[in-house]
Amino acid sequence: MSNVPAVPPERLPALLAAMPKAELHIHVEGSLEPELIFQLARRNGVRLPYASVEELRRAYAFSNLQSFLDIYYAGASVLLREQDFYDMAWAYLQRAQADNVLRAEIFFDPQTHTARGVPMETVIHGLHRACQDAKQLGVDAELILCFLRHLSEEEAFDTLEQALPLRDRFIGVGLDSSELGHPPEKFARVFAKCRQQGLHLVAHAGEEGPPAYVWSALDVLKVERIDHGVQSAQDPALMKRLADEHIPLTVCPLSNLKLRVFPKLEQHNLRELLDAGLVATVNSDDPAYFGGYVNANFLETFAATGLDAQHAYRLARNSFEGSFADASAKKKYLERLDAAFAAA
Ligand code: ADE
Ligand code: ZN
Repeated sequence: MSNVPAVPPERLPALLAAMPKAELHIHVEGSLEPELIFQLARRNGVRLPYASVEELRRAYAFSNLQSFLDIYYAGASVLLREQDFYDMAWAYLQRAQADNVLRAEIFFDPQTHTARGVPMETVIHGLHRACQDAKQLGVDAELILCFLRHLSEEEAFDTLEQALPLRDRFIGVGLDSSELGHPPEKFARVFAKCRQQGLHLVAHAGEEGPPAYVWSALDVLKVERIDHGVQSAQDPALMKRLADEHIPLTVCPLSNLKLRVFPKLEQHNLRELLDAGLVATVNSDDPAYFGGYVNANFLETFAATGLDAQHAYRLARNSFEGSFADASAKKKYLERLDAAFAAA
C-alpha cells in the first residue's frame, strides 16, 4: 500500500489491535503465566519457592536482564511432560490469535529442560504438536531452537546433536540468555554447523550488550535477523549497514522497559530505528513477565511515543517481510494487512 490512510488518533488503538501481524520474538517459556506455573507445579508435584500466584507475581520486579533470567529459569522448572510443553505453547497461541497474529516464530530453550533430565523429544514433540494444532486458530506457528549463551560451546554442540534427529520440527536456531560477557564469537562453530544444515539463524544482540556484538552476530554468526538490537543506535555505521542490508530487528519495547534498557517507554528508540530506515518490528519477548502480549506492546509504545498509522503499517509490514515464511505466504499476509488498512 503506497498511501496509508490518515487515521484519527482515537481510532489508532483499535487499528493496532486489529491489524494482522507476525510475532518474531517470543520465548515460549516467557509466556508461562503464574497461574499455569502453579497448575503445572501441582500436576507434577514440583515444589516452588513461592507460596502463591500473587507472591510469584510480586517477585517480577527486575533491575536488569540477569535478575529476570534467574526467575524465568525457576518458573520453567515445572515443565516435565510432553503435555506440559503443549499446554504452555497452546496458551500462547490462543493469546496470539486474540492479538491477530497470523504467524508466530517461537523461541524455545531446550537446555533449560534437558539439564533437568527432560528428554529433547519431550520438549520438541509437545511444542510442535501445539504449533500444528494452531492451524485451527488461523496462526502459522514455527519453532526456533535457542542456545543458552551462558553455557559452553560444547553444551551447545551436544544440544544440536540431540535436536538434529528432529530437524524437520524447527526452522532455525537463535542465541539467548545472559548477553554481557558472552559475545557471539563463542558460538561461531555451532552456528556454522547449523548453517550447513540449512537452518535459519538469528541471535540476541545489542539488548544490553554493545554494538560490537551486533557486528559479530552478522559477520561471525551470519545471522539473518537481530533480536533486540536497540543498542545499534549508538553506532551510525552499524545503523547504515542494518538499513542497507534490510536486516530485521525484533524489538521488544515492554521488555526493554521492564529490564531497564530504557528508563521510560517515552525514551524508547523505536521511532529512531524506523526513521533510519531499519526493518524494525514489535514483539513481546516474555509476555507473562513483562506485562503484555504483542498488542499491549504496540498500544503502550504508540501511546508513549506518539507513533502514527504510517508507523503501524510499516511495523506490521516489516513483521511479515522479516519473517521466514515462504514468498506465497508472505504475499497472502501482506494482502490481508493492506485490506485491514484500506478498511480503516
Ligand atoms: N531469554 C528470554 N528472554 C530473554 C531476553 N530478553 N534476553 C536474553 N535472553 C532471554
Ligand atoms: Zn528475547
